[in-house]
Amino acid sequence: MRTNRFSTSLVALGAAVTLTACGANAGGGAEGGDEQGDQGEAPLGKVGVILPETASSARWEGFDKPLLEEALRAEGFDPDVQNAQGEVQKFTTLADGMIAQGVEVLVIASINSEVGSAVAAQANNAGIPTIDYDRLNLGGSSDYYVSFDNVRVGELQGEGIAEALEGQQGAEVIEIEGAPTDNNATLFHEGQRNILDPLYESGALKLVQSQPIDNWDNQRGGTTFEQILTANGGTVDGVVAANDGLAGAVITVLRKNGLNGAVPVTGQDATPDGLRRILRGDQYMTVFKPIKAEAEATAELAAALATGDTDAADALADDVTEDPRGGRDVKSVLLEPHLITKDNVKRVIDEGYVDAADVCTEDLADVCAELGIT
Ligand code: GAL
Repeated sequence: MRTNRFSTSLVALGAAVTLTACGANAGGGAEGGDEQGDQGEAPLGKVGVILPETASSARWEGFDKPLLEEALRAEGFDPDVQNAQGEVQKFTTLADGMIAQGVEVLVIASINSEVGSAVAAQANNAGIPTIDYDRLNLGGSSDYYVSFDNVRVGELQGEGIAEALEGQQGAEVIEIEGAPTDNNATLFHEGQRNILDPLYESGALKLVQSQPIDNWDNQRGGTTFEQILTANGGTVDGVVAANDGLAGAVITVLRKNGLNGAVPVTGQDATPDGLRRILRGDQYMTVFKPIKAEAEATAELAAALATGDTDAADALADDVTEDPRGGRDVKSVLLEPHLITKDNVKRVIDEGYVDAADVCTEDLADVCAELGIT
């Protein structure tokens, strides 16, 4: 799998020493001058990160931003982490600025493959290596992709709803999926169907409708689900929701119809809201994707690229992901996702991903005590 952080950090440290020495040489042997002080602070220079939006999931600003800043600084970068707020033009403008600044590496979690591919091409033409973060840009030119095994994420969601509906022959399922412009959403759905298609085909489960939601827009997800539920006579037995944001919108509609808690709903991202819903019994499961590991892998990879150490980069990205649109295999770091149900919510808190205080609100104090969550 990945080389350990220590060896890659040595590369960065070595680079730092080289750069500082070089910097001192370049400054006429300036002893402890400003450049040396500056270079001592961020020996690997600037790195740009553009995140896609905030509305789809609490993860981007709540977890990815702080964890990427921390991991990139630890590798010796001066990080500039921005969010495009779901606006393609803003994504492009942010990229223009970072490329003009001459960032050493550009990390992008794109709104869609089109803008992500255009930005990667522009950066690469400027001699700046790019990393597709969390979402692969189909038809893009980034040499590296860091994410989770997203088909496995979907399989965990499929296994969750199948487990929750076990024994309910012909149980009716509605699927509320992610953005069709997000390759991850395609992979999540592929994984779900690896588990659910045999059950649909055998009649064990019955698919009412499967509906992608543009931009993962949670509000649109809720209204769309309500329309499907109404068209189905106001009944459903289980809902596959592709992330916690959509799960929350679905559960709000179920609650309006007195169905929350009786209808299992899946999710993803292990957000505080999602974990609270699981402890209340309204949401059946979520998928925990340790974003700290994703951020650290990205930072290690960026450090290798910034120092031109392609061997280290390739040793880190020892998986491959097919890009069917670009007809290529992309060197990848694919991390393991984890199923979270009521029984193991404690794990997410014990790993420091969310604080118990953010999950164990007053109405959940007893449940948290029973589950040993403190
Ligand atoms: C996906 C991401 C998921 C999910 C979604 C909405 O690309 O991998 O974690 O939250 O976006 O932001």
